[in-house]
Amino acid sequence: MLDTQKVTQELFDYIDASPTAFHAAEQAAKRLEAAGYRKVEKETETRIEAGGRYYMTRNDSSLIAFRIPGGELRRFRIAAAHSDSPSFKIKETPEMDVEGRYVKLNTEGYGGMIQSTWLDRPLSVAGRVITETAEGPRSRLVNLDRDLCVIPNVAIHFNREINKGYAYNPQVDLLPLFAGKAGKGEGEEKPETLTGLCARSLGIDEESILASDLFLYNREKGRRMGARGEFIGSPRLDDLQCAFGVLTGFLQADREAEEEGKEETGCCAVYALFDNEEIGSGTRQGADSTFLSDVLECICGGLGIGGAKKRDILSESFLLSADNAHGVHPNHPEKSDPTSRPYLNGGIVLKFQGSQKYTTDAWSAALVRSLCRQAGVPCQNFANRADIAGGSTLGNISSAHVSIPAADIGLAQLSMHSAFETAGALDTGYLIELCGKYFA
Ligand code: CO
Repeated sequence: MLDTQKVTQELFDYIDASPTAFHAAEQAAKRLEAAGYRKVEKETETRIEAGGRYYMTRNDSSLIAFRIPGGELRRFRIAAAHSDSPSFKIKETPEMDVEGRYVKLNTEGYGGMIQSTWLDRPLSVAGRVITETAEGPRSRLVNLDRDLCVIPNVAIHFNREINKGYAYNPQVDLLPLFAGKAGKGEGEEKPETLTGLCARSLGIDEESILASDLFLYNREKGRRMGARGEFIGSPRLDDLQCAFGVLTGFLQADREAEEEGKEETGCCAVYALFDNEEIGSGTRQGADSTFLSDVLECICGGLGIGGAKKRDILSESFLLSADNAHGVHPNHPEKSDPTSRPYLNGGIVLKFQGSQKYTTDAWSAALVRSLCRQAGVPCQNFANRADIAGGSTLGNISSAHVSIPAADIGLAQLSMHSAFETAGALDTGYLIELCGKYFA
């Protein structure tokens, strides 16, 4: 079994370095490059070689990595997770003056967060900026990485009703305080702008920044909790816990195959990290785009495979979609289904839904359960109560573009879409073990 302490620290390091989807994709790319993966810049590139390791990105926020078998390509083994988490996107020219004494930032919600959890905690700003250079516009990631903003609550003395359920107005209640200003005659410094701070952190001129995609993020670090350290708490566990677990399993299978000189299985392992799941996946780089099918096309094209052979390969393939699941809540156990009750540290969660928003069916569930047995990993089930609608995820969206059997899995967590989420310390290791087996 894996060392939980080590795995958890690596997970926290990944999350801490990934305040936005851009950073999550960059961090994945770094780990892939270190393992010998090469970036394919153009999807039309035909130099895909047997035994090669490659990855592609789209919008710098989605990434697909793949390992070509040495012999004949017979099937794809794909596993997907998402790189984005609910946050606040910062609008253009966001600085808003308040009575000449404060500057706050104009923002809007990205995804469905639990709004109250974003108040009264140190926040920072990260994302990407596009700069003008002699060679044309260039994208740079930026992370201001310091306690910068706060969304202050209204004192209880001004709102005695706050604990009776309060509807936050995002245009009024949720704008972060960014800077203070001197009063009249107390010094006339040029006020700080967010673009100015970004420029300075990159060591460039403010004027060279043409545009940006910037988000607020929670500065809290990941930590162990519980009497025996059995829980983990961190921002962005949905879905970076799965993004990290699947990637680590993907690379582990690669290393083990190399070390043990395993027999060639004709399997092309594919790791897919999609942006924009939290806003419905309907972007050029989301799961509801042609990204995955384009990459599979690129692989087949590069290997000179087409027509019936390609369809054969796809029919032998499988997609595992990994996105965190709702564990039974200690204060609200009644919210969970009467018989499908996943717990933190209970292992891989298989997700089922009658209307197939989760792709799992008897065949794909059987495959995952059998893999869990082989990997020595516990497996549990999730289904929504029949009177609760629940969310959706990547699996059925991806398989609408690439018609292959799929299963939806995840790891149990509490407080999904809070700025600080809680999950089980053992579960990341279980996902790594499962994916290690799956990709082998
Ligand atoms: Co998710």
